[in-house]
Amino acid sequence: MAYFGHRLCRAFSSSALRSVAVKHVVIIGGGQMGAGIAQVAASTGHQVTLVDTSDAILTKAVNGMEASLKRVVKKKFADKPEAGEAFIEKVLRSVSTATDANLAVQSTDLVLEAIVENLKVKQDLFSQLDKAAPAHTIFASNTSSLPIGDIASATSRLDRFGGLHFFNPVPMMKLVEVIGTSSTSQETLDSLMNFSRALGKTTVACKDTPGFIVNRLLVPYMLEAVRLHERGHGSKEDIDVAMKLGAGYPMGPFELLDYVGLDTAKFILDGWSAADPNNALFAPSPLLDKLVADGKFGKKTGEGFYKYK
Ligand code: NAI
Repeated sequence: MAYFGHRLCRAFSSSALRSVAVKHVVIIGGGQMGAGIAQVAASTGHQVTLVDTSDAILTKAVNGMEASLKRVVKKKFADKPEAGEAFIEKVLRSVSTATDANLAVQSTDLVLEAIVENLKVKQDLFSQLDKAAPAHTIFASNTSSLPIGDIASATSRLDRFGGLHFFNPVPMMKLVEVIGTSSTSQETLDSLMNFSRALGKTTVACKDTPGFIVNRLLVPYMLEAVRLHERGHGSKEDIDVAMKLGAGYPMGPFELLDYVGLDTAKFILDGWSAADPNNALFAPSPLLDKLVADGKFGKKTGEGFYKYK
C-alpha cells in the first residue's frame, strides 16, 4: 500500500516529495554503532528493530542504550526527573529486537547495516535481505572503509542503496556522511539525507571513495604522526600535546588512535594499501603492525600507544 502511494507521488512531485519518509528502520548489528544509531533513531520518533545474532547480544545492546539514555536524561530533564523517566520508557518502547533478519525486514522503509567490517559477510547479508525486503525499502551500510558499490553489487537494488556513515559515539557525534554510488538515485540520497537530519545530525554528501571525507583525511594524518614518531622526530606525548595545543584538536593523534582501535586503523590502512599500493599515504607502519600483532588494540584492550587501567 505504502509502495503504491510512494509511486503515485513520484509521478507528480518534486524530488524532496518523491523520497521515502523513513518511519521504520531495521538496524542490523547491535554493537557499538548499531546500538548507538538505534538509540538516536528511537529518541527522534522512529520505530526501530535492532537485529543481531543472539538474544544475549541484543539484551546487552538494549541495556547499554538504557544506561546511555539515563545519562542524556540527567542533563536534559535535570529539573523534571519523571518526564525523563517517561522519555526513556517511550524510547525503549520504540525499539524491538530480533535475531531473524529476513523476517525483520519484511515491512520497513530502511535497512541500515552495522555488522562486522568484512565485504563478503556484508554482501551475503544484503543478498539475502534483497529477496526478503519490499521493493521500496532502501538499503544502507555504515561501513567505514569498504566501497559501498562493492557491497551493493550483491543486490538488485543498486538505485536504492547508499552509505550512511555515523561516528562513534553516535549519540554525541553530530555528523553523518551520506554516500552515493554512481547508481544511487537522487530519491534515495534525499531519503538518506532527510532521515539523518531527522535524527538531529548534520549531513555531508560524499562520493564512494576510500574513507569518504573524514577518514580519508583523518587516517593518513594519524599514520603520519606514527611515522614521525618512528623516525624519532617526536615522542608520542609531545606530538599529542602539540596537536592539542597547537592545532586546537581535542585529542592528539595517538590518543585518538587508541580510542578508535589500532586493529581498526590497521584494517582500514591495509585495505586502502591493497587497492592503491603506490600511495605513500597508505604505506604500512611497522610500529602499528607490531602493536596489533601483540594484541595491543588501544583503550578496548587496556593498552595501545598508552596504557589504560
Ligand atoms: P561491533 O563489533 O561493536 O558490532 C558489530 C555487531 O554486529 C556485533 O554485535 C555482531 O554480533 C553483529 N553481527 C555480526 N554479523 C552479523 C550478522 N550477519 N547479522 C547480524 N548481526 C551481526 O562493531 P561496530 O564498531 O559497531 O562496527 C560496525 C560497523 O560500523 C562496521 O562496518 C564498522 O566499520 C562501522 N563503523 C564503526 C565505527 C567505530 O568507531 N566503531 C565508526 C563508523 C563506522
